[in-house]
Amino acid sequence: MLGPVILAASRSDKMRRLVSAAPGTKQVVARFIAGETVDDVVPIVSELSGRGLEVTLDVVGEDITTVEQSYAARDAYLELIGRLKELGLGERAEMSVKLSMFGQSLENGHELALANVRPVVAAAAEIGTTVTLDAEDHTTLDSMFAIHEELRKDFPQTGCVIQAYLFRTEDDARRLAANGSRVRIVKGAYKEPASVAIQDKPEIDKAYVRIMKILMDGEGYPMIGSHDPRLISIGQELARRAGRKLDEYEFQMLYGIRSEEQNRLAAEGHRMRVYTAYGTDWYGYFMRRLAEKPANLLFFVRSILTK
Ligand code: FDA
Repeated sequence: MLGPVILAASRSDKMRRLVSAAPGTKQVVARFIAGETVDDVVPIVSELSGRGLEVTLDVVGEDITTVEQSYAARDAYLELIGRLKELGLGERAEMSVKLSMFGQSLENGHELALANVRPVVAAAAEIGTTVTLDAEDHTTLDSMFAIHEELRKDFPQTGCVIQAYLFRTEDDARRLAANGSRVRIVKGAYKEPASVAIQDKPEIDKAYVRIMKILMDGEGYPMIGSHDPRLISIGQELARRAGRKLDEYEFQMLYGIRSEEQNRLAAEGHRMRVYTAYGTDWYGYFMRRLAEKPANLLFFVRSILTK
């Protein structure tokens, strides 16, 4: 019940100001956000890498309002890639990007986002890594998939995300599995209407399993983005039945969530990638993490009250 309310609050500027100013917020945010700057996140990449984990880095930010902000987003990723290159960490860390941060919702947004993301994808390829396009709300997805297809002409390793809760996703999965794409499957984190998305959690899980099977049986590289132990073990079984070796798929989880499980999967020989978000515009990302688990909200409220 609380999830949709928190997701609605994630789009409210008034709530953004209230939450950002609340005492105790910083402490709770730090559980999910690895820091504010490249300097904060680099030691975390080294530490995760030392534990045998791979990383995908997200410079937080979305729903920008000016073209200048979209250039700043591009430049933040270019700075990050430059630092990874200097430190020789390129092959351990890929990038995740939200096209809304690259200007997708502005005037001529599709072209602007493509023009901004292309140099990031090219710079990532130069250091031996790649970029995955995150999935945002359903109205942005046709543009995201078109940009993904365009980028793959020059950079076939470019990945994208699909969301199990959307009715459209099984068709998307079939297309992406047939054309050999890197695809992260997730349950979906946005507030979506019943006209486009499954609302019932067990039904979303069933769709997730069907989509994992399509991806595992296909030609591409499946990335299982979930903390759900049942889906993870079904994913392992589907990979085994599809005859995939351990380096022909991977698991992904978010920084700060189920770290023990992350270590366990890596120790078993699985490729385990930690989605590590950093930056100052953390509000939308943070609110989605609260919406996923009501206990996080209780922890947040308690930490405000005890300040
Ligand atoms: P579920 O929500 O059922 O959680 C299973 C268990 O994991 C919970 O019982 C709890 O123990 C733990 N858990 C999950 N979320 C938690 C939280 N926030 N805090 C504490 N514990 C938690 N979505 C999207 O729409 N577009 C995207 O591009 C992405 N990208 C993405 C990348 C990666 C690597 C991951 C793991 C997830 C995403 N997501 C996403 C988010 C995704 O859609 C979904 O909201 C979350 O992963 C939560 O769903 P689970 O599959 O983990 O299952």
